[in-house]
Amino acid sequence: MFDAATRHELTLLAAGQPWLPAVLLAGRAATPIRKVPKLGWFVADPLVARQIYNDSTHFSIVSEGAAGHWWAQVIGDWVEPLFEGAGHTELRAKTRDLFTAAHTDALVDGVLGAALKQLTEDLAAGKTVDIAERARVLVGRSVSDLVGMAPEDISATFAGEGRNSGDDPDEPFRILFEHVEELVNLAMGTMASTTLDPVAVDRARTLVGKLSSSVPAAYARADGSTTLGRCRELGLAQDHASGLAMLMAVAGTDTLASAMSRMVALLHDSGDQRALLAAPERTPDAVRETLRVTSPAYLVGRSVTADVEIAGRQLIAGEHVKILTWSINNAAGNFSIHRDYNPETRQLWFGGGRHLCLGAQLVHSELTALLEALTANGRPWEIVERHYRRKVFIPTYETLRIRLTD
Ligand code: HEM
Repeated sequence: MFDAATRHELTLLAAGQPWLPAVLLAGRAATPIRKVPKLGWFVADPLVARQIYNDSTHFSIVSEGAAGHWWAQVIGDWVEPLFEGAGHTELRAKTRDLFTAAHTDALVDGVLGAALKQLTEDLAAGKTVDIAERARVLVGRSVSDLVGMAPEDISATFAGEGRNSGDDPDEPFRILFEHVEELVNLAMGTMASTTLDPVAVDRARTLVGKLSSSVPAAYARADGSTTLGRCRELGLAQDHASGLAMLMAVAGTDTLASAMSRMVALLHDSGDQRALLAAPERTPDAVRETLRVTSPAYLVGRSVTADVEIAGRQLIAGEHVKILTWSINNAAGNFSIHRDYNPETRQLWFGGGRHLCLGAQLVHSELTALLEALTANGRPWEIVERHYRRKVFIPTYETLRIRLTD
C-alpha cells in the first residue's frame, strides 16, 4: 500500500511522462541486473550500480545510450574529449574546488538570499505562496549566475521569443528557467536511443547559442564570487568554462527545481514537517531524504564499450545499461526524516564514480536554504492547491500553493 506522499509522487511522475511510474516500479525487480528486449540492461542493485559507475574501461558516458551522447549533440562536440578519459580527469581536477561548502553557502546567500527572505516574510504575513513557481524563479536566479546573465541580458537575449519581462523583476528568471527546461525536454523519448532528430538538434543549438551568449563577457569581467569568475580563477579556458556552464545549466535546472517543490510537498504529505519544526537539527536528514525519494535524475544511462561480465551476466560492447536510480533509492522505503543514513544508497541520487554530480554541494546548500526560509516562522504549512507539470522530462509540480497554519 502506498502512503499519501508516495501516491502524490507517483501521480507527479505520470504527469511528466505517463510510462515512468510503471517502469520505475517494475524496475525494482531488475536486481542485480536484467535484460529488457530492445532497451538493454536495467540495474536496480546499488552495488552493481556502483561497480558500473566505477568502471570506465567497459562503460562510457559519451557513447549512444548515455547522457554525454545527448549532451554532445545538444551542447557541442567538445563534450566527448572533456567528459571521458584524460580530458575529463583534468576537468574534474580543475573544478574540484568549484563548489566547496563555504563557497556554495556564500553563493546561495548572494544569489538567493533576498528572495528567500521575502518568502519567509510573505508566509509570515499570511500570504499563500506558490512554491513551484518560487522554485522556478530561485533556480532561474541560480542559472543566471552559472551562465553569467544579468536580468537585462536575459530580457535582451530572449526579447524575440514573444516574452516581455515588463516590470516584474522575477520575470527574467522565469524566462531563463523555461528556456533551459525547453532544452532539457528535448531529451524526451531518448529511452531507446539518445540520437536526436535534426529538428531537435537545430532547436537545441539555437537555445544553447542564446543561453551561452553572455559567457565571454562574464568570463572576462566576473569576480570570484560568481561561478564563471571562479572557473576562470581555477584555470579553466573560456571555451571550457562556457561548455561547462551549459552543462551545469542542463544538469542542474529542472532537477533542482523539482527537488525543491517536491521537498515541500513530501514534508507536508508525510507529516514530517512537524517533527522537523520540533528538531531543526534534522534539516540535513530532510534534505537527504528528499534527494533519495525524489531522485530527480531517475535513470542514468551508460553504454558498454567492451565485453564484460557483471553480476554473472555477459554484457556485450554496443549494448546499453540503464541504472534505475529512483528504483534503487526508493527500495529503502517511504520518506522519513527519521531514517538513518544508509551507506548503500549514499549519494546514488547524484550518480557515482568519476561522474558523480559536480553540483552536489550547491544542491545541498540551496535545498537547506529553502528549508530554513520555510521553517523560519516555526509554523507548519498546508497545501491549498497543487497541480503536476505535464509532459516534462524531469517531473515536477506546476503549482504548489502553500500557506502557514497552526
Ligand atoms: C537535485 C539536483 C541534481 C541531481 C539529482 C543531479 C544528479 C546528477 C547525476 C545522477 C549525475 C551523473 C550523471 C551520469 O553519470 O550520467 C550528475 C552529473 C552532473 N551534474 Fe548533477 N544533479 C543535480 C544538480 C546539479 C547542479 C545544480 C549542477 C551544477 C550547478 C549539476 C552539475 C552536474 C554536472 C556538471 C555533472 C556531470 C559531471 C561529470 O560527468 O563529471 N548538477 N548529476
